[in-house]
Amino acid sequence: MEEATLDNPQTTAKPAPFGTVFADTMTVTRYVDGVWSEVESIPVAPLSIHPGAHVLHYASTCFEGLKAFRMPDGDVRIFRLDRHLARLQQSAGLVCLPAPPTDVVEQMVRQTVAESRNILPTPPGALYLRPTLIGTETNIGAAGAASTEAMFYVLASPVGDYFSGGGRPLSILIEDQQMRSAPGFGQAKTGGNYASALRHVIRGRNEQGVDQVLFCPNGDVQETGASNFFLVNDRQLLTKPLDSSFLHGVTRDSVVTLASHLGYEVIERDFTVDDIKDWIKTGEAMLSGTAAVLAGVGKFVHDGREYVVNDGKIGPNTQRLREALVGIQTGTDEDVFGWLS
Ligand code: COI
Repeated sequence: MEEATLDNPQTTAKPAPFGTVFADTMTVTRYVDGVWSEVESIPVAPLSIHPGAHVLHYASTCFEGLKAFRMPDGDVRIFRLDRHLARLQQSAGLVCLPAPPTDVVEQMVRQTVAESRNILPTPPGALYLRPTLIGTETNIGAAGAASTEAMFYVLASPVGDYFSGGGRPLSILIEDQQMRSAPGFGQAKTGGNYASALRHVIRGRNEQGVDQVLFCPNGDVQETGASNFFLVNDRQLLTKPLDSSFLHGVTRDSVVTLASHLGYEVIERDFTVDDIKDWIKTGEAMLSGTAAVLAGVGKFVHDGREYVVNDGKIGPNTQRLREALVGIQTGTDEDVFGWLS
């Protein structure tokens, strides 16, 4: 594979879209007869699974998304690996799949990173890691049973910005009729939740020209199709408290911790679409996620009306929190919380 060009100042080539370039190898283990096999490193190539595999029919799958960064001294460190390892186990439980033990997953993530060092872009680029678990039992009758076989692999992809256009303010459609995921299942990081959000996100993009859709069923502000949601002003940070309706973002947790450290009053409570409209008269709105990092909102669209945020520009508080987060991730600021390993 060619040396990655994402965010590499030594090249003028256009960066590839997020998630479309991969390392040459990935680590893999298979679960058969109740046992996980020895971890192997194999070429990243089409998989051979039976067309009747459980995952292809009953969506028995979950995944993680985390990043490794190149430090100023050339060392490579992973951001909040422990949190991602724990969330993978939780998602696996929710989709009734066996997961490899946490120490095995950790070893696989670290091995994948070590094997992909040569394609790790310089900051703000990163190596995006996608641990993926799928149910591989061949059985289309097993709609009501867990897959007895599984495969787990860790893919690596050099990435830049998730939202094209770099740090531009995003436009967000407020969707107050539909849910992103089935009730009680939002905290599973599973493809099914992204699939259920997909048609709303595509419709928002195609018909209203927005970047993302914020799901607010019956007015309850939850999350977008690909990230958690925050309101912020000079003094306060507001976000929904953890419950089973949405994904418990590791970046969300990092932003909450950083905001509190920087002196913001952190408020975790349920809030409504009307609260957003009120807040943005003077405050800002942001999206967080491993891929999204911390992205500023410039405009909401709701019921055919536009609501501009901070004159359509990224606000100072969004900027400040993003810089604090990226500073730790990329090793230019002290890792005061011990998030890099
Ligand atoms: C992540 O932020 O890690 C995700 O999985 C979101 C995805 C849409 C790239």
